[in-house]
Amino acid sequence: MIEFILNNKKIETGEPNGSLLLDFVRYDKSLTGTKIGCREGDCGACTVLIGDCIDGKMDYKQVTSCLTPIGNVQGKHVVTIEGLNMEDLSPVQQFMVDESGTQCGFCTVGFVVSLTGFCLSNSEPSYEDAIAAIDGNICRCTGYKSIERAAKHLFVSLNGKGQNETIQWLVDKAFIPSYFKDIPARLKKLNPVKKTNYNGTLVGGGTDLYVQIYDQLIDQDVGLIADSPELRFTKVENDVCTLGAGNTATDLLESYEMQAMFPQLREHIKLVASSPIRNIATLGGNFVNASPIGDFTVFFLALNAKIILTENNHNRTIHLKDFYKGYKDLNKSEEEIISAISFEVPKGNSHFNFEKVSKRIHLDIASVNTAIQISVADNKVTGVHLSSGGVGPIPMYLNETCAFLQGKELLPQNIKSANEVLQSEISPISDVRGSAGYKRLLLRQLFYAHFIKLFPNNFTLEHLI
Ligand SMILES: Cc1cc2nc3c(=O)[nH]c(=O)nc-3n(C[C@H](O)[C@H](O)[C@H](O)COP(=O)(O)OP(=O)(O)OC[C@H]3O[C@@H](n4cnc5c(N)ncnc54)[C@H](O)[C@@H]3O)c2cc1C
Ligand code: FES
Ligand code: FES
Repeated sequence: MIEFILNNKKIETGEPNGSLLLDFVRYDKSLTGTKIGCREGDCGACTVLIGDCIDGKMDYKQVTSCLTPIGNVQGKHVVTIEGLNMEDLSPVQQFMVDESGTQCGFCTVGFVVSLTGFCLSNSEPSYEDAIAAIDGNICRCTGYKSIERAAKHLFVSLNGKGQNETIQWLVDKAFIPSYFKDIPARLKKLNPVKKTNYNGTLVGGGTDLYVQIYDQLIDQDVGLIADSPELRFTKVENDVCTLGAGNTATDLLESYEMQAMFPQLREHIKLVASSPIRNIATLGGNFVNASPIGDFTVFFLALNAKIILTENNHNRTIHLKDFYKGYKDLNKSEEEIISAISFEVPKGNSHFNFEKVSKRIHLDIASVNTAIQISVADNKVTGVHLSSGGVGPIPMYLNETCAFLQGKELLPQNIKSANEVLQSEISPISDVRGSAGYKRLLLRQLFYAHFIKLFPNNFTLEHLI
């Protein structure tokens, strides 16, 4: 039995744990406010909130219910638009009306749910965060400006919301119904959040699998690992950072350890997918999906990261760069799971940068992406790891370019020569994301961008072109 609270009601269901939350709320519970658009995580029409009680405090995140296996909401609070409705419109709904933020209305539910998720966030509200909260919602009618204005009013109206009494404050101001106050106590009475279950197809967030083979998963019990504590942790010990492979993109974004090591982390991770996808997409899923343009794969390749593969309590550690043998061909047995990823904590003279170009900023996979970690002393390269996606059949660790750069002075001529080595190492193909020639040019520009950004005193664009 899967147990959770749906809006104000306790649910017990014997549905297969791989069936989709979207279908359950619409077809089993007739909560048809949640819409079906793309069923691929792209449009946000199916957005719901999932609330988890962590140390007695609710943590609500917006997710795409079209990619969420119902087993992943065990022990949690699921909120659809019906669970936000009150006698009068909430401020979120009212601002959308006042600013003509809704026309045909198909997307509106998703926007209202996401913006309410922003209100429920335990952090200090900002206008930027209000806009970021709707980065996974698409509207065909309004042109967005009216929705942005509604978001602006919303941000202003949250003035005075403390970080600790979020739910009480929102209930008092009629942003959410009063039943929200009882949810932590009610969740405690449910079966605990499920333990790791490795039986059947292994599903992390499901954001790749439910796009690729949704019809094969919805009628079965799958192996759900998303909430497993042994796969969802961050640890820094003896100058090595180890992350559970079940960490989501949002876990990374919110991790103090990661923020301290990578000051630009927010800018980098905001380029990956959208908030509702990042809230469920895991690192392990990104590595095993083995897309040649996987953003996290490229990010961690440049940290020369290692992965720990586990089977029946037996661990094997390999470099991430040795995980990819060919297109979707992995150095991994059927039964092995990635349990963790580790990398050396960057030292003081080490610099990191990630670049990605896609056809639009959010909700788009890269045409080309690249990351670099480079250490410099006395203006000379003392260590470098460089990676790139979209320029070969696998996410690439650029061995030869790294070897060339080692020991070189940070001079424009050396970087230009390094680009020649880089171009000989890659083999992009022409596809919907661009011609092979375009991708070569793009990687050259992004490679130069690493140096211009990290060493502005040494390089300008004029030096390099
Ligand atoms: C709308 C949308 C936008 C996206 N945008 C981006 C983007 O900008 N950049 C990007 O890189 N990706 C993007 N993705 C792809 C996807 O979100 C990521 O690859 C994500 O990290 C996959 O993680 P997951 O947990 O959802 O994987 P799942 O779908 O759960 O699993 C993917 C594969 O990994 C296996 N698996 C999962 N965890 C483990 C583990 N620990 N050990 C062994 N095997 C495991 C599964 O069995 C499956 O084969 C996007 C996806 C969507 C739907
Ligand atoms: S239906 Fe489009 S994101 Fe779920
Ligand atoms: S109002 Fe029609 S899609 Fe947004």
